[in-house]
Amino acid sequence: MTVVLRSPQEFKQWRRQQKGTVGFVPTMGALHTGHEELIKRARKENDVAVLSIFVNPTQFNDPKDFEKYPITWDQDLKMAEDNKVDAIFYPRYPDMYPDNYRYKVTESEYSKLLDGAHRPGHFDGVLSVVMKLFNIVSPTRAYFGEKDFQQMTLLQGMVESFFMNLEIVPVPTVRESDGLAKSSRNVRLSEADRAKAPAIYKAITQSNTADEAARILTEQGFKVDYVTDVGNRRFVAAVLGEVRLIDNVQI
Ligand code: PAF
Repeated sequence: MTVVLRSPQEFKQWRRQQKGTVGFVPTMGALHTGHEELIKRARKENDVAVLSIFVNPTQFNDPKDFEKYPITWDQDLKMAEDNKVDAIFYPRYPDMYPDNYRYKVTESEYSKLLDGAHRPGHFDGVLSVVMKLFNIVSPTRAYFGEKDFQQMTLLQGMVESFFMNLEIVPVPTVRESDGLAKSSRNVRLSEADRAKAPAIYKAITQSNTADEAARILTEQGFKVDYVTDVGNRRFVAAVLGEVRLIDNVQI
């Protein structure tokens, strides 16, 4: 049975009764098979599996994007139960932000590049909420998808910098059969844009340079925020209609 716990106090009390390793999957809900992969790993590799669902307002630089974020509680609960998740932490804003976001965690270099350059304050919100979640859940391992590679790298850096006692486990991106990376935002694409969206993966894997990929996407009607190679990865963010999609691949 999956228990649902709403306040940090309630969760911590439950947590004290658990034995062995705890695998944790932090999410904002609207779960899809990409999340399910993270949950399956957490379940398989740990004695206890915990999921959190919290649409974190501090990481949305665009209030419209926050308002439109899909909420699918019944489906999410079913996925958790089907995958034998032991507990869902499902807090409300005042539970998570008793300080109303006066305190935050900031990284001053890598968080300003790529998505950070286009979404001011986004990674402050992510790092701050995940720090809070880690302190409440006390996981042994936390699972993150490589689709949000910059997020995962920043979280690994936070764990190292603050000597936090857990392991971040990267999980490869799950894709639709046409190559589109699974994302909670995909459901907001119109039928025509959904048909166009796989061009992102195609462009970043088949172009010789980042500039070539950006040009191909622009020609196809995407509003390209960036295509950039960093180290051995190529990163992209592009907007279709009102939906902003990101992806990255090893090159
Ligand atoms: O990747 C997400 O869904 C969110 O950024 C996270 C890590 C749950 C923090 O709100």
